[in-house]
Amino acid sequence: MRLFLDSSKLGEIIKWRPVISGVTTNPAILKREGGDIHEIAEAIAPDPISIEACGDFLTDAQHYADLIPNVVVKIPLLTTSGSPNIEVIDTLVREGIDVNCTALMSVSQVILATQLGVQYVSIFAGRIDDEGGDYYRVIRDCVDFLDDDDGGTELIAGSIRTIGNVLDAFRARAHIVTVTPATLDKMVMHRYSLETVRQFEEASRNLPK
Ligand code: E4P
Repeated sequence: MRLFLDSSKLGEIIKWRPVISGVTTNPAILKREGGDIHEIAEAIAPDPISIEACGDFLTDAQHYADLIPNVVVKIPLLTTSGSPNIEVIDTLVREGIDVNCTALMSVSQVILATQLGVQYVSIFAGRIDDEGGDYYRVIRDCVDFLDDDDGGTELIAGSIRTIGNVLDAFRARAHIVTVTPATLDKMVMHRYSLETVRQFEEASRNLPK
């Protein structure tokens, strides 16, 4: 099980680099946090950076793949009009471009995406939770299916909002969980650890070395 960072802040990516195995972005993150995708790609290489293709999905995805060696293009299974995006995904996979099929909320969507040979499927746990859905069950069922299928597709649990979401995702055996820098800050902190470290630091003063 690995952690990805869901952020476009270069400073955070560098700070957390030793504990992360990839970066995920989306247009909302890039709009909110800024950042240069080329600098981010370089900072995380040879590990992958997921970048969302938009508008003309095929052209946009091919553009990123041409420019960024470690890119994984994020493509939704549905277009904005609600039609299946399977032709685009199929073409990209056949061209050897790594695809992260994104914004998935159900096991049936994951089953379909997997048939296309994508590298990753991204389940948006927090958004499932927003609607009262059981994201633990969805992730668990998807991972059971993917591990049996053995086609190499990995599940990323995204849209993580709380430490509880992280723990649930790992308990459900998500292959990867993508978390924000704020979530990593919370994961590292425990007030009793802090108190203990301070206690030992205090005790070490004036000890012979
Ligand atoms: C994951 O790949 C997405 O970038 C992200 O986790 C979406 O999170 P949100 O639901 O908070 O927008």
